[in-house]
Amino acid sequence: MSMRDPLYNDESTASIGGPETNVPKHVAIIMDGNGRWAKAHGMPRFAGHKEGVATVVKVVKTAVDYGVDALTLYTFSTENWKRPKTEVEFILKLPKEFLGVHLPELMANNVRIEAIGDMSKLPVATRRAIQYAIDRTRHNDGLQLNFALNYGSRQEMLSAMEAVFADLNTARLSLEELDEEQFSKYLYTADTTEPDLLIRTGGEKRLSNFLLWQLAYTEFWFSDILWPDFTGQDFIDALEAYGQRKRRYGGV
Ligand code: FPP
Repeated sequence: MSMRDPLYNDESTASIGGPETNVPKHVAIIMDGNGRWAKAHGMPRFAGHKEGVATVVKVVKTAVDYGVDALTLYTFSTENWKRPKTEVEFILKLPKEFLGVHLPELMANNVRIEAIGDMSKLPVATRRAIQYAIDRTRHNDGLQLNFALNYGSRQEMLSAMEAVFADLNTARLSLEELDEEQFSKYLYTADTTEPDLLIRTGGEKRLSNFLLWQLAYTEFWFSDILWPDFTGQDFIDALEAYGQRKRRYGGV
């Protein structure tokens, strides 16, 4: 039976997406390859990012269909400011454009929007659009869709450490209480489970400062496919590959 349409709920597919199946609860994605896709099509880099948004739409829909709980998308890193100003401005306008078009559909699909990263440096219009979407979708309890925007894992850990120091020896935290679980509460991802599956498209095999703490026990899935060419079926292939993995968390 094809798993292409998990909403097709006859008996043979009834268990897909249910708790007894091996669907990753949290999937994180490094969406790489937009620039190369554009170049290969004789287009400017921004055209690749625009096409990348279309892939986001497909992947979010598939994640909803499959019963994935959380999807974290590396949309703009703390290092991406090094790109030409016009490209930076273009990428940072995409969340507003995406939400402007797709928010009603996301609401209808019970999606809850979240963001991780230092929002203070983003253009005001982008920040407002994201905050509006977070507020509108706050009570949805379906897929949690996290946009990592101006996100860098080292920056996240440093600001977590600053907050830890500020709380130490107050009623909030003592040195004896500080363990992995407590530290995790100081990260942007405090309210999210750690990713079960990391997908990176575009052929590179590195983490690029993405969720370094949170990916400690995550399964990785790398694909040569450039993000704009990545399809819902490719996403399903990754989910199914995850389903075959045996996770041991350092045990036997
Ligand atoms: C990396 O590809 C991609 C980015 C830095 C931008 C990612 C943004 C999107 C896919 C748009 C999604 C946004 C929303 C809000 C839905 P690259 O440019 O580094 O590609 P290259 O390695 O081929 O140059």
